[in-house]
Amino acid sequence: MNKNPKWRYWLVERLSRTVNRLKRRKIGTWHSKTEEFFKEIYLGVILPQIDHQFGETSALKVLDAGCGTGRIAVELAKLGHEVTGIDLHQESLLAAQGHAKDMGVSIVFMQGEILKTLKGWANESIDLVICLEVLYVCSDYRQIIEEFYRVLKPGGLFMGSFRSRFYFITTLLRQGQYEKALYVAQHSEGLLKIASLPTYYNWHSGPELETLLKECGLEPVATVSIGKFSGMGYDGLAAVVDLDEPLSPESYSALSKLESLHLSEWRDIGRYMLAVGRKTVSHIVVICIATDALRLISFWASPSPWSF
Ligand SMILES: C[S@@+](CC[C@H](N)C(=O)[O-])C[C@H]1O[C@@H](n2cnc3c(N)ncnc32)[C@H](O)[C@@H]1O
Repeated sequence: MNKNPKWRYWLVERLSRTVNRLKRRKIGTWHSKTEEFFKEIYLGVILPQIDHQFGETSALKVLDAGCGTGRIAVELAKLGHEVTGIDLHQESLLAAQGHAKDMGVSIVFMQGEILKTLKGWANESIDLVICLEVLYVCSDYRQIIEEFYRVLKPGGLFMGSFRSRFYFITTLLRQGQYEKALYVAQHSEGLLKIASLPTYYNWHSGPELETLLKECGLEPVATVSIGKFSGMGYDGLAAVVDLDEPLSPESYSALSKLESLHLSEWRDIGRYMLAVGRKTVSHIVVICIATDALRLISFWASPSPWSF
C-alpha cells in the first residue's frame, strides 16, 4: 500500500507553499548572483532552441509559467517577444515588474496558480512555454504539462526544468540520509526533508522525462543538465563547488564554460534537467491537407465534363 497517498502530497504541497510565501515576504530585490549564473546557462540552451525552431521570426507569444522574479521573462521580452508571466507569489511578481520597468520592457504579469490561470486561455495560442524550476514541487505536474500542450500552437515549444534523481540522491547523501537516498533511487516522487519541513517533490531521469513529454503529447527534442558540477546551500553538488563561496574571476569563467558544455554522458546529473518538447502538427491534419491537395490536383488535371 502507498504510505503517501495523493491527498497527503497535496496537503504537504499547500503547507510548504504557505511557508515559502511567508519566507518570501523578504524578497523584493532582484535575483541573486547564483541565479544570474544559472540564468546564463539556461539562456545558452533556450535561445539556440528558439532560433532553431522559429528562425528569423517576429515576436513570439511566450508564457513564463512560475516566472518568479522574471529572470528569463525579462530577457525574452528584451528580444522583442510578447511575454506573459504567471506566478503564485505577489512579492516575486512585484520584483519582476520592477525589473521589467528598469529594463524598459513590457510584460503582462498574472498572479495565480498555473493550472487555474490557464483554464480560460484559448487552445493553440502560445508559441513558447517556459517553466523553469517549478514543476518539481507541483504534485499535479502532469496535468500542468497537458495544459501547456493544449495552449501551445502546433510547432510550438515547451521548455521545462525538473529536478534530477541524481540531485536528490547526492543532496540526501550529503546530509547523511542514506535510506531516503535509496527511496529516491527507487521512486519518482515523495515527501523529503531537505531543508526544514518535509516537502513534496518529484524527480526524474532523462529517459523518464522523455516518456513524460510523450505521454503529454509532446515530441522530445532535447534534454540537458543545468548545473552539473556546482550548487549552493544544501545541494549535494555544493560539496564540489559551492557557488555561495567567492570564486576568482578566472575560476568563475572556467566553471561557467564547463557548465555550458552539454555532453550526452552528463545529461542526467544536473541540479536540474531542462527538457525541450515540441507540439507536432497532428498527423491526421497533415493527411487531410495532403488528401485535399491531391483531390484538387486531380480535379484540375482531369478533362472538364462540360468541355466538348
Ligand atoms: C524556484 S522559483 C523559479 C522562478 C523562475 N521560473 C526562474 O527560473 O527564475 C519557482 C517559482 O514557481 C512559483 N510556483 C510554484 N508553483 C506554482 C504554481 N502551481 N503556480 C504558479 N506559480 C508557482 C513559485 O511562486 C516561484 O516563484
